[in-house]
Amino acid sequence: MESLLQVRVAARQLVAEDIAAYEFAPVDGAELPAFEAGAHIDVHVPGGPVRQYSLFQLPDGSQRYRIGVLRDPQSRGGSVRLIDTVKEGDVLSVSAPRNHFALHAGPAHAVLFAGGIGITPILCMAEQLSREGRSFELHYCGRTPARMAFLDRLHGASFAERVQVHADDGAPEQRLDARASIGAPAADRHLYVCGPTGFMDHVLATARELGWTEAQLHREYFAAAPIDHSADGPFEIELKHSGRCITVKADQSAAQALIDAGVPLSLSCEAGVCGTCQTRVLEGEPDHRDLYLTDDEKREHFMPCCSRSCTPRLVLDL
Ligand code: FES
Repeated sequence: MESLLQVRVAARQLVAEDIAAYEFAPVDGAELPAFEAGAHIDVHVPGGPVRQYSLFQLPDGSQRYRIGVLRDPQSRGGSVRLIDTVKEGDVLSVSAPRNHFALHAGPAHAVLFAGGIGITPILCMAEQLSREGRSFELHYCGRTPARMAFLDRLHGASFAERVQVHADDGAPEQRLDARASIGAPAADRHLYVCGPTGFMDHVLATARELGWTEAQLHREYFAAAPIDHSADGPFEIELKHSGRCITVKADQSAAQALIDAGVPLSLSCEAGVCGTCQTRVLEGEPDHRDLYLTDDEKREHFMPCCSRSCTPRLVLDL
């Protein structure tokens, strides 16, 4: 199992309505592992769940991890508990950064889309692209400026002229025209999107309509829509390397069945959005329920924390 880092809340600041920025410093002078734009950390909310938060500021030598947290009463409760109970000076456990939303390598132009709290990884990407002298533009959408974090920071950034802010309650001419902003696909253009599910689905669907290929579309979901489990049935998992067969009962996840059977499996979000549990499928047809894998990746992989099986048996590369 991955070892956790102990961090102290060095600062906590409201950066928009219902959004707090937290700054974590290592306890006892330990070093915090470095990361690149798009990375997130797992935060073990005291007395509560584990939640993933994107890091919004690149390492700057100060040994800090910085996250932005939206207090969303509609969410599964981790963020509300974090904002309501965690204050400066508290000590928390966090994971080392993981990155399932990394920038492409090379000189291609990046079109960045952020919706609401989705600005956190996108801000970090803009900083990295700017630092590396690479070409990009950033579209930041929100309901109203009061609920949009880091506007001051973006307006004061060296790359401010590359940022367009689209507020739902603003003048019609500044609202997002997704087709115009996404533009025509080209081999040297990549699109990155993060934000609420409906916003992301809209941006991605528009890009696909315009002819963009999956290889150039990159996204990070924060939360999955609730899954209907009423028709779930049991199925079997065969572990290729040992030949063992494990039954997944109707009321348990494949991940839970694997862990109960002593199979080592890393879990984090347990909701099909973070990518931690990705497992290769060798035979059988998964019933994909995650928001993480691309259509191409779904041909070979599945996420046992949330996905099930359309066939009576899945053979996994475990
Ligand atoms: Fe996050 Fe499975 S644990 S996708």
